[in-house]
Amino acid sequence: MTTLTPILTRNWDQPDSFTRVAYEREGGYQALRTALGMEPDAIVQAVKDSGLRGRGGAGFPTGMKWGFLPPASPNPRYLVVNADESEPGTCKDIPLMMANPHVLVEGIVISSFAIKSNHAFIYVRGEVLHVVRRLQQAVAEAYEAGYLGRNILGSGFDLDLVVHTGAGAYICGEETALLDSLEGFRGQPRLKPPFPAVAGLYGGPTVINNVESIASVPSIVQNGSDWFAAMGTEKSQGYGIFSLSGHVTRPGQYEAPLGITLRELLEMAGGVRAGHRLKFWTPGGSSTPIFTDEHLDVPLDFESVGAAGSMLGTRALQIFDETTCVVRAVLRWSEFYAHESCGKCTPCREGTYWYKQMLKRLEAGQGEEADLETLLDLSDNILGRSFCALGDGATSPVVSSIKLFRDEYLKHFEQGGCPFDHAKSTVWAEGGSR
Ligand SMILES: Cc1cc2nc3c(=O)[nH]c(=O)nc-3n(C[C@H](O)[C@H](O)[C@H](O)COP(=O)(O)O)c2cc1C
Ligand code: SF4
Repeated sequence: MTTLTPILTRNWDQPDSFTRVAYEREGGYQALRTALGMEPDAIVQAVKDSGLRGRGGAGFPTGMKWGFLPPASPNPRYLVVNADESEPGTCKDIPLMMANPHVLVEGIVISSFAIKSNHAFIYVRGEVLHVVRRLQQAVAEAYEAGYLGRNILGSGFDLDLVVHTGAGAYICGEETALLDSLEGFRGQPRLKPPFPAVAGLYGGPTVINNVESIASVPSIVQNGSDWFAAMGTEKSQGYGIFSLSGHVTRPGQYEAPLGITLRELLEMAGGVRAGHRLKFWTPGGSSTPIFTDEHLDVPLDFESVGAAGSMLGTRALQIFDETTCVVRAVLRWSEFYAHESCGKCTPCREGTYWYKQMLKRLEAGQGEEADLETLLDLSDNILGRSFCALGDGATSPVVSSIKLFRDEYLKHFEQGGCPFDHAKSTVWAEGGSR
């Protein structure tokens, strides 16, 4: 399987791809017309039948999530699109919204119609001002064309869509912290249950989905659930955007069926940068245990990556060659988690701080083998004991790197310092691959 499936990325090479005119030229908003002629429950069923699983990392079936909304509730229902995208390495939603914001807007209108919601939000990180402007422009164009607002395309269906900018915190991508932030509070995770489907935004039934999940809905409505389900693997159906970054010849977004392997993707991306070899990589961002060149043929679907000891996550394939010090990379990620820990629970607040302090010493060669056991013990006290998945994610690089690269940690202690020349590991150092 070496074929790409450009669906969300189809028009990215056109200079005006982000405009409504360009999107309509390629058949955009036809799926909305089809959807408005369907029963809302039939759309939910089509999404269930397609096998679409959440593209935000956890892979929860999207149609099933929509089905959890209580049939009768005195409160309005909400659709919230999670466009926070702050995981290190993850970089698919931002280019998607930049290049083709209308596929997201169309997905939001169809999904809101399906779940009977008249209010939708896009929660986007505020730092990406260029993307915020693109989204605002797309929303304004959609209102002008009658795709948003009152009586959409004469169907009697009303929808208002608000673009809300976050203030830049990784935790605000966690769905319940996102809701707190959207309501104007400091973003910290909420206790579950109740789940957002029952009591979410302003206490109302709420569906929260990733950008790519919602952007995939028009293609399912237009082409049918069988078309979508025919791609991918038995339990991980459809296509997804794979983001290759780091020490790779042609970094970028590769849209392909789930189940493709890194070996196949690397072939299309021109391989690891010239003169170098693959050392380690993340299958789905920094919160997923690292892999090595032994995992090049693992099918990149939820089940196979899980069986091989990691997680598919957000398909953020960060590639590191032999010039990279794994201890230093893990230190950098741990500094990120310590900085982003919201402080609500002790295992994560204290544990990520300890990680940072210990790894700093270890990278500087001031440690001994027993420290690795302390790090693993600390990880046991964070994993499964933290209030939300940020804490769990912080343990992934630490535990997996000790498992796969214990010798490299030991070399730091033996030499009393880092054995790597860090200048060589930057992608720009040798004339650069970009
Ligand atoms: C710390 C943390 C950050 C997260 N960041 C994001 C994010 O930026 N975008 C996203 O879609 N999901 C993120 N998630 C996952 C969401 O909580 C949630 O599972 C997801 O938005 C559901 O959408 P999906 O079912 O369409 O995947 C994050 C989770 C955690 C714990
Ligand atoms: S795990 Fe970390 S980010 Fe999550 S609630 Fe606890 S302190 Fe906050």
